[in-house]
Amino acid sequence: PLVSMSEFLPQAKAGKFAVGQFNMNNLEFAQAITEAAKEEKSPFIFGVSEGALKYMGMEYTVAIAKAAADSSGLPIALHLDHGSSFDVAMKCIRAGFSSVMFDGSHYSFEENIRLTKEVVRAAHAMGVSVEGELGTIGGVEDDISVDEAHAALAKPEEAIRFYEETGVDCLAIAVGTAHGMYKGEVKIHFDIIKEVVAKIPVPIVLHGGSGVPDEMIRQAIQAGAGKINVNTENQVACTNAIREVLNKDSKVYDPRKYLTPARNAMKEVVKEKIRLFGSSNKA
Ligand code: G3H
Ligand code: ZN
Repeated sequence: PLVSMSEFLPQAKAGKFAVGQFNMNNLEFAQAITEAAKEEKSPFIFGVSEGALKYMGMEYTVAIAKAAADSSGLPIALHLDHGSSFDVAMKCIRAGFSSVMFDGSHYSFEENIRLTKEVVRAAHAMGVSVEGELGTIGGVEDDISVDEAHAALAKPEEAIRFYEETGVDCLAIAVGTAHGMYKGEVKIHFDIIKEVVAKIPVPIVLHGGSGVPDEMIRQAIQAGAGKINVNTENQVACTNAIREVLNKDSKVYDPRKYLTPARNAMKEVVKEKIRLFGSSNKA
């Protein structure tokens, strides 16, 4: 069965490793991620954005994630990514999600606390874990787009108060990463992660994990990032593999002929991330 993030995040924080959130966009993503995690014996999180949910449909999303958990025997959380309202979060929980993110980062600080608290109270009553977000993460993800000028770093004192008042299971704070592949140089503010993590019992979440150099990921985990989200790198691997097949052979018509290499390419990406995050053999 699907599990809440509290099944593995406390161990991640204590053992200084991170559990990967790999976004699910279709069946091939789900299979690639699960196969990789099975070979690495790693727990993981299926992230599903509202856009992906619309694309796959609620029933298929939950059924695919349940099939992945049942067939692999791994601790897998099915997690709403960047949930925009209490209603969406409740709809997902009712349908079988084991974890939700409420992203109230575009509200005022006080309003973000108030709204996140409501989600936490309802979700925890049903054994579902909750991720909150503070500060504004730059870049583009589905319909959410934040330009660099509006990407604001999280303030440590606010992050600590946010945790104390909401009781979230993990906290995404803006520390310099951005959604999507990076164009310029990445600068992660490890000091912010350290300062916050020292004062709260739950791990920090690093969004925008794609395109971040391995060494920075290692440092972020050492600083206290216990959950790292990756989506774009899998999308790129998938599309590049498909493009390669189609460019080589204009007569191909069987989708399995290009989806199989796409799935293999994503599996390799996920395996590498799992090893980098240190979550191998933690299932
Ligand atoms: O919420 C999802 C992640 O933050 C994905 O970011 O597409 O840059 O890997 P990414
Ligand atoms: Zn994100």
